[in-house]
Amino acid sequence: MSFGCIIDTTTSSKIPSEAIAEMSLTAQNHRILLNDGNNIPIIGLGTYSAPKITAKDACYDAMKVAIDVGYRHFDGAWIYGNEGEIGKAIQEKIADGTVKREDIYYCGKLWNTFHPPEMVRPSLEKSLKLLNFDYIDLYIIELPLAFKPGDVIYPRDENGKYLYHLTDLCATWEVECHPYFTQPKLREFCDSHGIVIVGYSPLGTCRDSLWVNTKIPPLLDDALLNSVAAKYKKTSAQVALRFQLQRNTVIIPKSFNPERIKQNFEIFDFSLTNEEIKLISALNRNERYVQLLMWKDHPEYPFNDEY
Ligand code: A2P
Repeated sequence: MSFGCIIDTTTSSKIPSEAIAEMSLTAQNHRILLNDGNNIPIIGLGTYSAPKITAKDACYDAMKVAIDVGYRHFDGAWIYGNEGEIGKAIQEKIADGTVKREDIYYCGKLWNTFHPPEMVRPSLEKSLKLLNFDYIDLYIIELPLAFKPGDVIYPRDENGKYLYHLTDLCATWEVECHPYFTQPKLREFCDSHGIVIVGYSPLGTCRDSLWVNTKIPPLLDDALLNSVAAKYKKTSAQVALRFQLQRNTVIIPKSFNPERIKQNFEIFDFSLTNEEIKLISALNRNERYVQLLMWKDHPEYPFNDEY
């Protein structure tokens, strides 16, 4: 999961969806151009893993595998509790000559309790210190749901009710994106305004019923995705990722498993036909996996809006 990411509205491009298949993105060169001259690697490693059940250094180990495999984009957040591990892995890979800082694209996120403007810079600086970076490439609002500012990261009252806070969130969007939630209207809007979408949960996320809608069957079990996968000797995960890549959507699959980290990156050596793209698009159910129902009474709860 990446709770936060969203649309990169700071940097955007307009590349027609059909054109992307011809662009021959490769494992070595898969940055897509943004209309301000910046660019972003089209695949990134998601780094959220529930802290309570994640072994210490799992993220650090995964990061080192991912850099060796060829990932250059990392989607993280202060709230994930592992920016120190991310920073350590990147610094070591810089020190051993595998990468330079400028090869890396890191997206960090402002947590819900730090929305007041005067808290933004100190929060970013906290992340920079953990990462041992002097800049990060993209900093976004994790969720458009502000909590009571302060050091308690999930503030609640004596009855256990979450304590919310109101801020100006007009620049914030939430965008889950995968074959069961293809976001046709949002894509049309973004395409017409030259905005690249970063789709989180591209594999249908994990099945944590605390915040995931587990009534939707697992995306990766889908019969069509699996039959297309068999044709190309790929997995359903690789087909789901390649589908997004051919639609010019940046994907940030999370895995801390070395085999799956590698597998999710092996999507540059096959191409789906237009017919397959059409069939996969038709899987859309207009339903989100990530619903965050525990915060549905927040006045800014975003998922009742069409997009
Ligand atoms: P793991 O870290 O053990 O690989 P999303 O990116 O949509 O949030 O999905 C992340 C979930 O999908 C994690 O539970 C991750 O577990 C699992 N996952 C990642 N890559 C694959 C893959 N290639 N095949 C099956 N499951 C995967």
